[in-house]
Amino acid sequence: MKILITGGAGYIGSHACVELLNAGYEIVIVDNLSNSKPEVLNRVRQLTGKDFKFYPANLLDITTLDAIFSENQIDAVIHFAGLKSVGESVTLPLWYYNNNITGTLRLCEVMKKYGVKKIVFSSSATVYGIPESVPISEECSLGATNPYGRTKQMIEEIFRDLNVSDPEWSVALLRYFNPIGAHNSGRIGEDPNGIPNNLLPYISQVAVGKQNELKVFGNDYPTKDGTGVRDYLHVVDLAIGHIRALEKVLRSTGVEAYNLGTGIGYSVLEMIDAFEKVSGRKIPYRIIERRPGDIGICYANPLKAKNELDWAAVKGIEEMCEDLWRWQSNNPNGYDTEVLVSAKIL
Ligand code: NAD
Ligand code: UFG
Repeated sequence: MKILITGGAGYIGSHACVELLNAGYEIVIVDNLSNSKPEVLNRVRQLTGKDFKFYPANLLDITTLDAIFSENQIDAVIHFAGLKSVGESVTLPLWYYNNNITGTLRLCEVMKKYGVKKIVFSSSATVYGIPESVPISEECSLGATNPYGRTKQMIEEIFRDLNVSDPEWSVALLRYFNPIGAHNSGRIGEDPNGIPNNLLPYISQVAVGKQNELKVFGNDYPTKDGTGVRDYLHVVDLAIGHIRALEKVLRSTGVEAYNLGTGIGYSVLEMIDAFEKVSGRKIPYRIIERRPGDIGICYANPLKAKNELDWAAVKGIEEMCEDLWRWQSNNPNGYDTEVLVSAKIL
């Protein structure tokens, strides 16, 4: 079984590639490395002892996309490739709409041409916007509040329309909550460009001295300690969720959305505390005003994924923080710590 992984060099994609290879799938990766480094591919090969083809290409490049499908007998696609910064999407909406939506349209065109109609798509909890209530279930109304989120919501609609036009399409829309942590080898993990936007990468950079202090965005939310509450899940649990979703799309047709989260919410202060305990490092922090656009509480009802995909997150926050700390302390400069060996292109 050969699976095309778009965005396979990225944070979540690389962890999914390890799990897929370990589970016996053959993979082909396409990634333009706009937010990732080729070194990650070497590490995926080292961790799994398996090889795969890598195409350093943009999804917008339909000629290369076509070549990927003509050169490989692809059975299904896992589609991670996309730009993902909320703030950047507000400043550069056309770039986001073009990259995420046009990229997906080109991918679907080529899939259609080659009769490949099975796909697992990286959506996001951000499609729920300001949640009506928590825990959030898949039936809750959608209302993304920024261009990035709207690309995810629009792509979900595109897949639903595609399935109406041709019921053989089989699509899993995976709405991730907050993935954190790293592979427990400490060899692959999240390597954000510049100053991290997200909480855990920021905390771990404070712990290794790359940032001076954490700024906590508001302590006046209606939550247990006033700070924002999120549903953090281990990236390896999330990666395994893709295998369960892949198995589902391979055996069925239709379009289904699934929340991938733990169902448990932790506050910013609880995450600081958990990280301090496992790392033994003090995380200095300062409370500042709320970050514009943030919501107070967001956590999943993950029962649909349990019932229909037989998937549930099993790793707790201690393990998430331990694995993040191992990755960050072994690789304080991310994938730049070693001399880069250019990725092997078969
Ligand atoms: P990432 O940036 O680490 O990985 C995305 C990969 O896609 C990168 O390697 C990038 O180079 C590649 N890419 C982007 N545009 C491309 C294009 N046009 N052609 C080819 N490659 C392209 O991000 P991630 O955290 O691994 O996220 C993966 C997916 O999950 C994204 O679609 C993201 O929107 C979604 N998601 C992420 C989170 C999160 O918190 N990390 C939460 C919800 C949803
Ligand atoms: N926070 C801080 N200080 C920081 C960073 C974050 O206090 O330096 C707080 C936020 O205010 C929030 C919590 O930590 O309460 C989590 O913030 P993140 O930025 O880590 O995550 P978000 O839930 O805001 O957003 C993330 C992704 C979105 C995605 C969403 C749901 O950035 O793209 O999860 O999956 F849509």
